[in-house]
Formats: sequence, C-alpha cells, structure tokens
Amino acid sequence: SFMQKLTGIADLADRLKKHLGISDVIVVPLDSDKAVTVKHQIGKEAARLLEANFIGETKVAVTGGSTMAAIAKELKGDKAYPSLQFIAARGGLGEDVLHQANTIASAFAEKTGGSFKTLYLPDHLSEEAYAMMMKEPLIKEMMDLYEQTDLVVHGIGNAEEMALRRQSTEEEVQMITEGGAVSEAFGYYFDAEGNVVYRIRSAGIQLEQVHKAPVIIAVAGGHSKAKAILSYFKNAPERSVLVTDEGAATEINNLI
Ligand code: BG6
Repeated sequence: SFMQKLTGIADLADRLKKHLGISDVIVVPLDSDKAVTVKHQIGKEAARLLEANFIGETKVAVTGGSTMAAIAKELKGDKAYPSLQFIAARGGLGEDVLHQANTIASAFAEKTGGSFKTLYLPDHLSEEAYAMMMKEPLIKEMMDLYEQTDLVVHGIGNAEEMALRRQSTEEEVQMITEGGAVSEAFGYYFDAEGNVVYRIRSAGIQLEQVHKAPVIIAVAGGHSKAKAILSYFKNAPERSVLVTDEGAATEINNLI
C-alpha cells in the first residue's frame, strides 16, 4: 500500500543516515535515472530545506549540475531574501551553460531576491596560469567569500562521467582513473574511501572551506550514483544533509 511504501522510504532514509553518519537524509520516491520528474522532487525538497536555512545575511556557495538546476526551479520566486548572497563555488566553464555554478548562483539570486557573485574561468588551467590567477584581486575577493561561507549546496557526480563532461585532458583522466576516483564534488575527485585523489586546477571553494561551513547540503539521486554517494560521504562532515531519491537509496542499501 501507499502507507507501507512511505514507511519503507522512511526506514531507508534512517538506515542511510546511520550508515553515512550524517545529520539527515531525505529520500524522495522513485528513481531520477528513470524519470526526470524525480529530479524535480529532489529539487523541491532541497528548496524547502534551503528556505528554512535562509536567515539574515547568509552566504551560500553553490555548485553546478542538473540537480542544482532543479533546485533553482523549485525555489519560491517571491524575492523574500534580499540579504542573501549566492557565490558560485567554482569558475567552471567546462559544463553546459545552464548547469554551470555561475548560472545556478544567478538563478538562485533571481528567485530569492538576493545578490550573487560569479567567477568565469576555464576548468583546466596550466600551473603558471593558475598561480597568476590566484594573485588577481577579483579572484582573491572570491577566495575571501569562500572563507566566509555559511551554507554550501552541491551536487555529487560519478567521477568518470564528470571527467568526460568537463572535457578533462588525457593527463587528468589518467590521474582520475589511476587514482581510483569514484565520486566528484565541487571539483574534487574522491576514491571509494573518500580520499581526494585529484582536484581540478581552477579557482574554486576549497574542501577545508566546505568542511567548515555551518550548513552543508548535498543533492544527488539516481541508482547510478549510489557508489559515488557512498564514496563522497566517507569523509564528509557529520552535520551534512543529503537529499536523494529511492533509486539511489535502495542501491546504497544493497551495497552496505
Ligand atoms: C557539477 C558540479 O556541475 O555537477 C559537481 O560541479 C557535481 O560538483 C555535478 O558533481 C553533478 O551534476 P548532476 O547533473 O548529476 O547533478
């Protein structure tokens, strides 16, 4: 019955929360790999959760991705939060424009009435270019904002898929595969134990900065992301919250 199904999902969420060792797991019914409407539901749950955390002058760092884009669509468009500031967590030009962190930050600001800060940089910089960029006042300003982040909302991807989506160089793909990367989040690639095996050389939020943010919300669903979600949460702070779907949750439950 419907009630049994809901209890089933609640049990699943509880089991995941305990296994991942985080403060909350929200599971929406069905599997976003099989129906796009499920991703919209993840977006809706995450939007409500965010709105509950939109207090005062909150600085919110946002990553890119289709799941993040689904949140933007579900935020109430009443411009009720003019003192919020949305910060693109990465420069990231490697992705489809609609799914770039910059686009997401501006979409969140548009809906909530807040302001936003973007950063337009290639995803893959040479060592020299990277060193030079870091000295630029505009980049320094972004780095200071990352340091002050109150809330991080981010997607989680499959390492290989993200490397392809970002048109990574051969050298990068090699580092990622040889390092045994399973998941990716905010430009960092993690192995099955949650260790960082590679990070994209571009300006963006640092893992330490994510880890010290008071509120951290991850959004990722679909059974195909089960291993990636498990890998990412091996090393994520306890106060993290995951918004996912039944497809991913069931598969994770099978793996643990
Ligand atoms: C990227 C983010 O844009 O989207 C990544 O930078 C994230 O951190 C990825 O892993 C997830 O994308 P999607 O489309 O699967 O939500």
